[in-house]
Amino acid sequence: MSTSSDEEYELLPTHEGSRHISSRSEKRHAKGGHLRPLRRVMRRHPILIFCTSLVFVTLASTFLAYDIVYLKTKLAIAGSYNAFLTHLWPVGLPNRTDVWENENSKAMHALISCMSADNCLENQASIVLLSSPHFANSISGHVSGEDIWAMSVLDAVRDLGYTPIFTTNNEELARTYRQYPDLVKIAIVEGASARSCFADSSCIKTAAHPLGIPAWKMFSFHFWGGASNPLGNAWTLSPENYALVQPHTHSEENVYLGYSIENTCLKIPVTPVAERPRQAYVLAKLSNYFYEKDYAWPGIVYESSPIDVSLVAGIAQDNAPNGAGVPSGITNLGRLNKTEFYRHLGRSRALVGIGVPFLSPSPYDALCMGLPFINPVLLWDWDDPENRTKWRTQHDGLKFQVPPYVYHVKKGDIDGFWEALRTAVEKPIERYIVPEMTMQALKYRVSNLIEGNWRKKAERLLNDRIDSGEGDLFEL
Ligand SMILES: *[C@@H]1O[C@H](CO)[C@@H](O)[C@H](O)[C@H]1NC(C)=O
Ligand SMILES: *[C@@H]1O[C@H](CO)[C@@H](O)[C@H](O)[C@H]1NC(C)=O
Ligand SMILES: *[C@@H]1O[C@H](CO)[C@@H](O)[C@H](O)[C@H]1NC(C)=O
Repeated sequence: MSTSSDEEYELLPTHEGSRHISSRSEKRHAKGGHLRPLRRVMRRHPILIFCTSLVFVTLASTFLAYDIVYLKTKLAIAGSYNAFLTHLWPVGLPNRTDVWENENSKAMHALISCMSADNCLENQASIVLLSSPHFANSISGHVSGEDIWAMSVLDAVRDLGYTPIFTTNNEELARTYRQYPDLVKIAIVEGASARSCFADSSCIKTAAHPLGIPAWKMFSFHFWGGASNPLGNAWTLSPENYALVQPHTHSEENVYLGYSIENTCLKIPVTPVAERPRQAYVLAKLSNYFYEKDYAWPGIVYESSPIDVSLVAGIAQDNAPNGAGVPSGITNLGRLNKTEFYRHLGRSRALVGIGVPFLSPSPYDALCMGLPFINPVLLWDWDDPENRTKWRTQHDGLKFQVPPYVYHVKKGDIDGFWEALRTAVEKPIERYIVPEMTMQALKYRVSNLIEGNWRKKAERLLNDRIDSGEGDLFEL
């Protein structure tokens, strides 16, 4: 360059002919010296430089913008989902009575949040559809045997991290299933509902209804022995191990799901025996239990007890025939809520069975609260009277248990009754939870149910049915 403005001069090399440069310029040279080659290039190819810079700046800005957007999205995702989730599946409104729908909404919030943030916990993205009404009833405070069973299965499903969704009839079940078929592992329904869904082309999965529920995902919640599902015993869930305790019901293949009263019971402290009166609790909610054919103690006169014990019962409904009422000698405490039931049970020394109701969860509560149970034997083989496999007892789930936990007395054996009661009242036990009925044992079985390869099992069943020509066919 031959131009020589003051500015340009200062950009010239310093090592040749630099001796006449002023000290002011020297300082400037020292500063900008190492940029000189660059300056020269810039002077010679300004367009190139401009274009290259433009490309770099554009690239950098693009990456920066992308990063910022990505980061912002990541950071804000929880917040923004929370923001829009408040408009979906409303939760916790005052005076809501549909407890189960509220629970569904909470579960959906948790599921959508974790799926969008990609941080779902183990099993959370697997849904278990709870369609037997006993599940919805159990969280509304109902306490029938089925409700207690349902509550404990629900606890296990939740403890294992699965997402439970309640539906209460087939129409709702089918509609819910269609929304996220891939996420649903299994549906638990009543036996009758399983049969009606199976026969309903708008419920069951077929080639013509691909979003229907596959027959093999549907399990019957059946309190009693035997099969109660279109796919038979292996799709029938049982609260007791009927294969073992009720061989006559042909339940060898039933799924022993069982239950646990551990969560409720462990919250209640055991009352030391010394602080309990000599009192026994008679298991009877209805007064007509004392007049049914399975009533175990027809000859017994409670008011002339040969032993020192008082008997109490919480009769919720006095429905005895001809106004016969509760037998004298038993103090009726009337209808008891759950708290009161546990309070009176907890201060008793034994729980007395009278033949009905069958398979009530209460004897498990009693054992857990330190009370032995008197289990009437209703039927036995007269030629083999001590063979328990052939026994039918009030509570078959406990028929292989022995004293000091469970005392078995044959129906009508009056002396045996008083002797067992005397021993039970005098021989206290510690808290006792039947090993198969701990929460841990239940969770193990529930996990096997949910994760089982039922499709494969159903495929074999279907082939058997095709080969034999017996049993209803279905699509996988
Ligand atoms: C709930 O219902 C009761 C009775 O109908 C009413 O008095 C109360 O104000 C309601 N609560 C709310 C928060 O709306
Ligand atoms: C149960 O009944 C008792 C006595 O009647 C009462 O004091 C208590 O509040 C009731 N508890 C519940 C949870 O309803
Ligand atoms: C008890 O009865 C069952 C069923 O009939 C039988 O298989 C078993 O051998 C019997 N047990 C004894 C000890 O006799």
